Amino acid sequence: MKPLVVGNWKMHGTESEAPTLARQIRRGMRALHGVEVVLAPPFTALTAVQKVIKGSSVHLAAQDVHWEAEGAFTGEVSPKMLKEAGCRFVIIGHSERRHLFHESDQTVAKKMLAALGAGLQPILCVGETWEERRKGETTRVIARQLRVALKGLGKSDIKKIEIAYEPVWAIGTGRNATAAQASAVHQRIRGFLKRLVGQERAASCRILYGGSVKPDNAGGLSLAAEVNGLLVGGASLKARDFLAIVRCCNPISL
Ligand code: PGA
Repeated sequence: MKPLVVGNWKMHGTESEAPTLARQIRRGMRALHGVEVVLAPPFTALTAVQKVIKGSSVHLAAQDVHWEAEGAFTGEVSPKMLKEAGCRFVIIGHSERRHLFHESDQTVAKKMLAALGAGLQPILCVGETWEERRKGETTRVIARQLRVALKGLGKSDIKKIEIAYEPVWAIGTGRNATAAQASAVHQRIRGFLKRLVGQERAASCRILYGGSVKPDNAGGLSLAAEVNGLLVGGASLKARDFLAIVRCCNPISL
């Protein structure tokens, strides 16, 4: 499987600003054939970014989605709307959604079903807080998040899902998990998936690491066992940094 690098732009980039960054990344990707890249701009910039990356190896993701197809849900965006805007992927259950906007495991589960139903590939985020890690609860928390999020999905749906391990304490803090810490959790996630859907299906699912990924730590993290790619926040806002991270994941350049 090709490694996957996702750029989560969060609330950065207007409709007129975003295409410049997307263009720089598209250009830089021409020499990098061993990695798949996904950009997740804000909703309002999706269409503008899609126009720039269309026909290239760079794909589009939304940062969130609602679970209903339509209705009186002020401020929300449906899976079909994202599909029509050109999204192939959608980030679900990001820790900022869970913590700042009080999204529950159950909400995440509904979003997973709705996204898959509309033909979107979910990038499911899981991760523990520092307090939970300190108390030795990392495995328990992540197993719970996965169990609820994947409940109700068919066994073969796992092939359409990407999982991102994002320790909450590493997001936007400049304090990344070490390669060993990431790898230990990724191996547990892989084990969990194996028990859930069997060895072969579990092996087809990419597990990304996210949390303060920068050009200087991306190499070590991307080479860690069971790390199949990276989810990048802050460092995805500069084409140079983001491309340097992508290069670290490109097997051909190793
Ligand atoms: P960060 O964000 O790279 O800025 O830590 C990662 C994320 O939130 O996905």
